[in-house]
Amino acid sequence: MPSDTLVTEQTKRQFDLDTIVYNFRLGSGLILFAFVLTHLLNHSLGLISLDLMEQVQDWRKMVTRHALGTTILYGALATHMFLALAKTATRNSLRLPRWELVQLIFGLAIPMLLILHLADTRASNWLINFNDSYRSAIPGYWPKMTWLPIALVIVVWTHACMGLHFWLRLKRWYRRRFLLLFALAILIPTLAIAGFVTAGKSISAERALKQAKRADVIMEHIQPASPLLTLASFNPAQQPSALTPPPANQPILVAQQKGGWSYGKIIEYAKIGQVMFGAFALLALFTPTAFYLIRRRGPKVVVNYPDNRQVTALRGTSLLEISRQARIPHTSVCGGRGRCSTCRVQVARSSDPQPPPSEMENKLLHKIKAPNGVRLACQLEPVGKLSVTPLVPANKAMNSIGKLNPQSLGIERPIVVLFADLRGFTSLSEDKLPYDTVFLLNEYFNRQQQAISRHGGRIDKFMGDGIMALFGAEDIFDADNKPASDLQTASKGALSALTDMIQTLEDMNRDERLALAHPLRMAIGLHAGPAVLGDLGAGQARRPTAIGDVVNAAARLESLAKEWDAPVVVSVDVLQAAGLGLEGFEPVSVEVRGKQNKIDVVRLDDPAALSL
Ligand code: FES
Repeated sequence: MPSDTLVTEQTKRQFDLDTIVYNFRLGSGLILFAFVLTHLLNHSLGLISLDLMEQVQDWRKMVTRHALGTTILYGALATHMFLALAKTATRNSLRLPRWELVQLIFGLAIPMLLILHLADTRASNWLINFNDSYRSAIPGYWPKMTWLPIALVIVVWTHACMGLHFWLRLKRWYRRRFLLLFALAILIPTLAIAGFVTAGKSISAERALKQAKRADVIMEHIQPASPLLTLASFNPAQQPSALTPPPANQPILVAQQKGGWSYGKIIEYAKIGQVMFGAFALLALFTPTAFYLIRRRGPKVVVNYPDNRQVTALRGTSLLEISRQARIPHTSVCGGRGRCSTCRVQVARSSDPQPPPSEMENKLLHKIKAPNGVRLACQLEPVGKLSVTPLVPANKAMNSIGKLNPQSLGIERPIVVLFADLRGFTSLSEDKLPYDTVFLLNEYFNRQQQAISRHGGRIDKFMGDGIMALFGAEDIFDADNKPASDLQTASKGALSALTDMIQTLEDMNRDERLALAHPLRMAIGLHAGPAVLGDLGAGQARRPTAIGDVVNAAARLESLAKEWDAPVVVSVDVLQAAGLGLEGFEPVSVEVRGKQNKIDVVRLDDPAALSL
């Protein structure tokens, strides 16, 4: 088998395995997140009442203590922990971005804290029948050990939110709701901790009250024999054991035993578990260094960067990791997961032949229509000598939320662009008061916007009395991250929108409320072609839009419609993309400024006659 084919097969298998592992980590993480979220919300009910807190916990236990719930929950925990350790151990280097390092450290800290918490609750319930209700469990922490559940809440929640954030941050719906979700991410653990503390105080007070009541009973019992004994001098520890209540801040479970198990023994095993996990974590953390030392004598790669920096690294290290090791800023919005393309580099022709892209890399490069020689730094494990130029500037602004998406960096794809202009509006507005002009225009924009969106289009912008709309670019406008329609669907949508738009204008002309001196008329231009879609502008004026020849050409066709006194001029490209023939049309070739080739266009007097 040729070596190239072998490499491709290997990378494909690696990709498949990576994808499976990634999905398992994500899936198990989501199950754990669901558990943690409900657990924290349950804690926060302590702010309302202890009884409500207990009741909701009982409902949750019906799921989490069920055999299936237990299997799923602890299966997810074991899977997530194992995969996290494995991922740490198989890294080429621990030189990670700060956020990834924090997430890793918090992730490794969780089991160390969690083991004790599990020993106190679930394990004690299972092994010695300890009723781990809030009323029984909280006194075990309150007040001296309260730091443990609080630390656990902070560490687990931060780790989970970071994981979710870096999974979702490329999704538009997430970025649009980021502030709300961020506020919730702060609010939920805060309420949980407040609920826990409030419950701790309530339980402590309840127990103190019980002690006092028992003391009263004893006082009544012994009063005749000790007339001088007062409540202040009463010491429960000196009373008969059956009447002695537990101290207010001690767990009940300490004394419980069953089948050779006792609370002390459970804690002993928990501590052994902590030591074992700590050893595994240290092993995982030192494995990359150990491998580095072993591989140090192996083959090297030499990477030249544009500022004449030359970096020598071990073979088998990804280009992104090489940049990080050399502290060369390198944008990697998805953190090296092969999902964003922001780490892309141009590999110079003079470089040694590099391994071919994996299936995943190929897919992404194809999607962004990357020219020859462009590679993803997070996926390329270079060989020999190579010179690279990172294509996405690494600056802090690029790493702020809301700007991190492929669209903000520009993607190219064929779309349909529609330009519509109100004819004679200027003269019409001269006879109207400014208020009426604004009202009329807004009415027009509002109705046309609805007509366009009914057919899958999105208004890109309003310019004076003009409209620019895009078809086939839904994903850059919509928050729900839905994929854009293909060019055929986009073209059909745009053509069917024409009839709707013209009908909408006729309805306006008949609307007596608008009191139009003469009917409004429109001129529409429609063209299809490749456009660059991206977030353009700065500050509040930054928004998704399209640029490219197709936009200029569509605007030109709209002007042509005015010149020809036609309602619509559409390019043959749109008709053909929609699968329509040209029978009955007489295409005309027109020049468009800035375009070398002429465009074939047709005049459409009755878009409703098109057989879509
Ligand atoms: S860092 Fe996102 S694709 Fe490489």
